[in-house]
Amino acid sequence: MTTSRTGPDTGVVVTGAGSGIGRSTLLALAEVGRPVAAWDVNGDAAHAVADEARSRFGVGAVGVGIDVRDTPAFDRSIAASRSAMGSVGGLVHAAGIVGAGPIDALDESTWDAVLAVHLRAAALLIRALVPDLVSVSGSAVVLVASIEALISNERIPAYSAAKAGMLGLARASAARLGPQGVRVNSVCPGFIDTPMLRPALEREPEARAIYERRVPLRRLGRPEDIAYAARFLLSDDAAYITAAELVVDGGVTRTAF
Ligand code: NAI
Repeated sequence: MTTSRTGPDTGVVVTGAGSGIGRSTLLALAEVGRPVAAWDVNGDAAHAVADEARSRFGVGAVGVGIDVRDTPAFDRSIAASRSAMGSVGGLVHAAGIVGAGPIDALDESTWDAVLAVHLRAAALLIRALVPDLVSVSGSAVVLVASIEALISNERIPAYSAAKAGMLGLARASAARLGPQGVRVNSVCPGFIDTPMLRPALEREPEARAIYERRVPLRRLGRPEDIAYAARFLLSDDAAYITAAELVVDGGVTRTAF
């Protein structure tokens, strides 16, 4: 048995880093000394969290304002990230939107936007980062999926489809990139207390209590609950874990209620 490993010390691109789970993941990575690149469509929030990572933890950090649907902007965003971090050995794709609309009222623009942000961006980002990821050891990708990829919700068919697609994308990418030393995994968060969940929590006065009662651990998830799982999957402690789905939901999806 070797002592605990936490490396590598390569840089990590985190999309959606301006808020919620992405922000918390970026700071958790910086806390263990990993250089970080905060990508977000909200450029001010991306720069602010990069500044915070740099000043609190002394790591290389850069903020990049980018819409992850804008694939032509990938190359220059990766170049800026690489130059600030020294290397790119990790990706966390946490940018996301909900896009509600049941199947009988689904509009095409919602479908296209949701699939583009979650699934298309994930695929094209991994593709764009392959040369970087294979050039350093211990590289890994974490796609932030959802329990909606495993169960579902009638209000969000596009989201559920995109998240289920991300699990398949992660497995296929893991199969392809494993021989080159790159691991690819998904995290499936449950109900996490971030701005994304807030409209659901504010729908009725008892909403928060109703959500909490559904969770065996009797609380909503915190962004750090997902950040620590993602940080683990990016570390050498997870060196033999690839093509896996890590459910972090306080027990919601695996228990009857
Ligand atoms: P959030 O709303 O707090 O953060 C999402 C971030 O993504 C925001 O900073 C936003 O500006 C950014 N973003 C949105 N569209 C973008 C685009 N086109 N390009 C670049 N950045 C973009 O939400 P939260 O909860 O932190 O969500 C993070 C991920 O976790 C999402 O993929 C979400 O689907 C997933 N998730 C969240 C759950 C929850 O209960 N909060 C549960 C399961 C999954």
